[in-house]
Amino acid sequence: MENKFKKFDNAFEGANWNEHEDDFTQAFYEQNLSQFWRPEDISLQPDLNVWETLKPEIKLAYSRNLLVLTFLDTYQGDIGMPVVSRSLDEKFHQRKAVLNFMAAMENAVHAKSYSNIFMTYMTTPDIDELFKWGEKHKNLQRIMELIVGYYKDLDRYNYIHKFESMKKGYKDLDFRIAQWKAMVASVFLETWLFYSGFYYPLFFYGQGKLMQAGEIINLILRDESIHGLYVGRLAQELFETFSNELQDELQTWVYQFLNELYHEEVELIESIYDEVGLTHDVIVFVRYNANKALMNLGFDPYFEQEDVNPVVLNGLNTETKTMDNFSMKGNGYQKMKSEMIKDADFYFEKEKIIKFGDE
Ligand SMILES: [Fe+2]
Ligand SMILES: [Fe+2]
Repeated sequence: MENKFKKFDNAFEGANWNEHEDDFTQAFYEQNLSQFWRPEDISLQPDLNVWETLKPEIKLAYSRNLLVLTFLDTYQGDIGMPVVSRSLDEKFHQRKAVLNFMAAMENAVHAKSYSNIFMTYMTTPDIDELFKWGEKHKNLQRIMELIVGYYKDLDRYNYIHKFESMKKGYKDLDFRIAQWKAMVASVFLETWLFYSGFYYPLFFYGQGKLMQAGEIINLILRDESIHGLYVGRLAQELFETFSNELQDELQTWVYQFLNELYHEEVELIESIYDEVGLTHDVIVFVRYNANKALMNLGFDPYFEQEDVNPVVLNGLNTETKTMDNFSMKGNGYQKMKSEMIKDADFYFEKEKIIKFGDE
């Protein structure tokens, strides 16, 4: 009997990892899994001695930054990564696996880690108040609205593409534009927006303070760094399929979107960092990372090159860290095999797979 739901040319198929889908996804897969960690790997108790000595305004700025990060990671896990994964053609089982793995890290590991920091440093009423602050913060809410807005748009187009693409006259260009814009939003979040929040923990870490929380931030930062590179790579591939005219139009959109977000970012940063006198430095750092996000997407930098606070660069410099031996992790931690990555590890030559760590 004919199965009307299944046709031979549209048969379900399994993920065959014996064949490479492209020349970069399996390398990203390896790197992602080798970096896997759990929030409970790092004991936060040793930080309490320092935390207790901090002034209230410093504690407030620190916790508010982690709250901003929490909001971004929550939605990146709940909708951002999953919606991009779902938008990929069904044949890309390995790409979907990589994105799904990243999605799982965002909320279940990253957001959970921020909560672990809150639970160690703060009381429940203070934590509740902190979350309410975020829910009411105009600029944070606007940033979420902008980013998640593009994820929701793609969510809608995913549905249309899946169920209405058989209809006469269907054109998939709108779907592909929505897909690309969601990828841009994703890279902006991963490689740029996180960094206003990362600044303060790195600022402490670079001075040898709140080291356990700093270690968590570094593990998260290491993850976000490859997330931004991977989604950026997919976005660039998609962008190349657009006509020159459309590319010009979308490039204009990218810089407009960047400016819209930047405006909100600056006000968000002022509201958190003015009290501790770091607003200027953080904005410089944020501009530096906005340029990096543009680079991941294949666009030219927008902001002038400026010097970033060396203390933060010291906290950021992954090569000087203990990440490969995880000396500060808790007792229950099993050492994993993982190498530090460099940007150069992700430049892929055509037809050639560069193994991570190879020089
Ligand atoms: Fe994350
Ligand atoms: Fe991420």
